[in-house]
Amino acid sequence: MEPIYLDHAATTPVHAEVWEAMLPFYTTNYGNPSSTHSFGRASRTALNRFRDGMARSLGCLPAELIFTSGGTESNNMAIFGIMQAEPNGKKHIVTTAIEHHAVLHPCERLESLGFEVTYLPVGPEGLIQIEDVEAAIRPDTALISMMYVNNEIGSIQPIEQVGQLARQHGIPFHVDAVQALGKLPLNLAELPVDLMSLSAHKIYGPKGAGALYVSKHTKLLPHVFGGSQERKRRAGTENVPAIAGFAKAIERILPLREQNYTQASELRELMIAILEQQLGCERFVINGSKEQSVPHILNISFPGISTETLLMNLDLDHVAAASGSACTSGSLEVSHVLQAMKLPENVTLSAVRFSFGMGNSKEQIETAAQKVATIVKRLRNK
Ligand SMILES: Cc1ncc(COP(=O)(O)O)c(C=O)c1O
Repeated sequence: MEPIYLDHAATTPVHAEVWEAMLPFYTTNYGNPSSTHSFGRASRTALNRFRDGMARSLGCLPAELIFTSGGTESNNMAIFGIMQAEPNGKKHIVTTAIEHHAVLHPCERLESLGFEVTYLPVGPEGLIQIEDVEAAIRPDTALISMMYVNNEIGSIQPIEQVGQLARQHGIPFHVDAVQALGKLPLNLAELPVDLMSLSAHKIYGPKGAGALYVSKHTKLLPHVFGGSQERKRRAGTENVPAIAGFAKAIERILPLREQNYTQASELRELMIAILEQQLGCERFVINGSKEQSVPHILNISFPGISTETLLMNLDLDHVAAASGSACTSGSLEVSHVLQAMKLPENVTLSAVRFSFGMGNSKEQIETAAQKVATIVKRLRNK
């Protein structure tokens, strides 16, 4: 039988239109945008067109977008780029305990170099308190970095409020919006945000393509040297086919945002309803916020059953789900997100993330939910 893919928060398939938009830049329009001959000029013109289109869709200036290799690079570029550009020796960062490792690890690296980082706590729903942000700000705070949507539990942080606070204190505000793009409205002309990380492969674009929005008022030092591409902010020949795909993916996804949101909400409710019917609502726990979360990500714990066992059984039964946390040398790490939420161990050790996408049908969710219930019952009766 066809496997059912419920891991869209990890990555999505490239949409046919996206692939079509990319192809010519591998085969016929393959010039280096920095070359001055006609091949190069054609690529440069295309690159400018992609940047202009994306900037229009996102509500920023074309020059405020730096193309990168994805969300990880964008986060690194923002954090190191701001801290290194800090003219007054400020060495403090405020972030949260539930960021993606692409934010946490750069912060840890900076700590090893003498910088200081405050990791804001979250409540049991995976949400920060605005008062905690205010209390964490110090005279030497040079950056606030916070994710919009959490990749494991889908919780939505109050980015606007945090941004306003950052503005009041004159602190640059970076938002990791990798899981928010295409899910929540993102109008950079209105959001009080100075830097924003985006990635293509979560929105039916190619892997290895992303962008960092840097507002024209924000000073950022480059971290890759060797050429004058991207206005000297990111050296290296631009990945034109991937950027073509990213531009097409954004153009496609934004008008479908509300429709996708409704579809994901229905799939989520369907899955929960079947599990309730089959297992009883006291036999599983939904992790995250009921109100402040995106519907595409559904994180459920089945106390008594380990995440690994459940995922393995689901995989054997052709359902692809995830733990949401990293897999190191073949064994799962306990999720730092669920730990930060201070959930009991039987919940943190039994959590599975289902993430829905445009290709999922109600029939697939019914089948997958039935399979989950059957496996859970079988494992519990062992
Ligand atoms: C919230 C968040 N930030 C950053 C990343 C990294 O993005 P990329 O895979 O494009 O490097 C991910 C990917 O899962 C993510 O979910």
